[in-house]
Amino acid sequence: MLSLLPQLGVEDTAAIVAHLPRLKARLAHLTAAMPGMQHSIAIKTNPQISLLRTLVGWGYGLEAASIEEVRRAKTAGCCVDQIVFDSPVKTRLEIAEVAYERGMLVNVNTLDELERFPADATCVLGIRINPQVHAGSPDMFDVSKNESKFGVPISNQSELIRAALAYPVGALHIHSGSQMQNLEAQKEALVGLRDVALAINALAPGKIHTLDIGGGLPSEPLEGQTKMASYGAMVQEVFRGTSFKLVTEFGQWVHASAGFALTAIEYVIHPDRIFVHLGADFFMRDAYTTARPFPLAVISSRGEWRGGQQRPFDIAGPLCFAGDYLAHKKNLPGDLQESDYLVIDETGANTYALWSRHCSRTVPSYWAWDGNSIVKWAERQTIGF
Ligand SMILES: Cc1ncc(COP(=O)(O)O)c(C=O)c1O
Repeated sequence: MLSLLPQLGVEDTAAIVAHLPRLKARLAHLTAAMPGMQHSIAIKTNPQISLLRTLVGWGYGLEAASIEEVRRAKTAGCCVDQIVFDSPVKTRLEIAEVAYERGMLVNVNTLDELERFPADATCVLGIRINPQVHAGSPDMFDVSKNESKFGVPISNQSELIRAALAYPVGALHIHSGSQMQNLEAQKEALVGLRDVALAINALAPGKIHTLDIGGGLPSEPLEGQTKMASYGAMVQEVFRGTSFKLVTEFGQWVHASAGFALTAIEYVIHPDRIFVHLGADFFMRDAYTTARPFPLAVISSRGEWRGGQQRPFDIAGPLCFAGDYLAHKKNLPGDLQESDYLVIDETGANTYALWSRHCSRTVPSYWAWDGNSIVKWAERQTIGF
């Protein structure tokens, strides 16, 4: 933090920072919890290109939700066989672009989509299954309801098996939803996935060789028995004795705490409101749904942490609509002042990725902290409509 402030230009009213030591620790924890699997990290959670290059450089794959993200993964240097392509609306042109990418896992969202692939495709063709379990994701992120637009319902087992046998399918995929709370329900989803694969292989030995179990764990501190460790043990238990290659697609769990942001406090309005330069543009999901409890601190422009007695403030963002608040009645040091910086921690997931162009405000510069020094990864970007 102290090395960042002197590097900010006069126009840098806000800055976004990747916390690489935390990122590394989280990935190490994921790999220890689920050893021997391919971890393709969800690009949509944080698509910053240097961040993707870092993940790839450390040996991780990337999960792409659009053809643009597939291209981004390649630009980041990701080997094709570590890329997973999951868009639910792949066009014929997009399918032509990936069909002969040997080893790329391409998951179809519906059985109709299978017909668009050439019979001699060399990508690994997977079918997304809706496991129809309720793993406790908030409504908006629960993709496993019976009427979900994602995947073929597992209750259509005979159709699934028929399709897997009729097309060059080698993989099956589930992603139950984000911020799953109920691991027992998720276990049911894993067992369902395994059993469909075994049923297909009983008819055509070796047909299904890859199972992609998606992502979906909420962020958590790396202390004590983590949910990730429990989930890893569960995954290993469910697939014990099988020889499937297992793939994961975590996003939020990996990235959320591996980043922070700071914004100048532009106005302090008596008695309890501050205006800052990051609002519903950076915290789009939070402003439009429920705000995550980001840890907050205040530092002066000279680099001194404010430690005055805490009192509640409303934190207003810069956009011109009434709902643009990062938080209401949040305790902050009472001695904060105009031109101080509000430091917002744990902003690494679903923030920069969702940047809203509302009001055409400039996207802040992006930085990386490696534990010793801070370097600029990207300049401020002007929005081009
Ligand atoms: C198919 C798929 N895989 C992985 C993810 C990443 O989910 P999470 O960030 O909850 O781990 C998502 C999120 O939307 C997704 O749709």
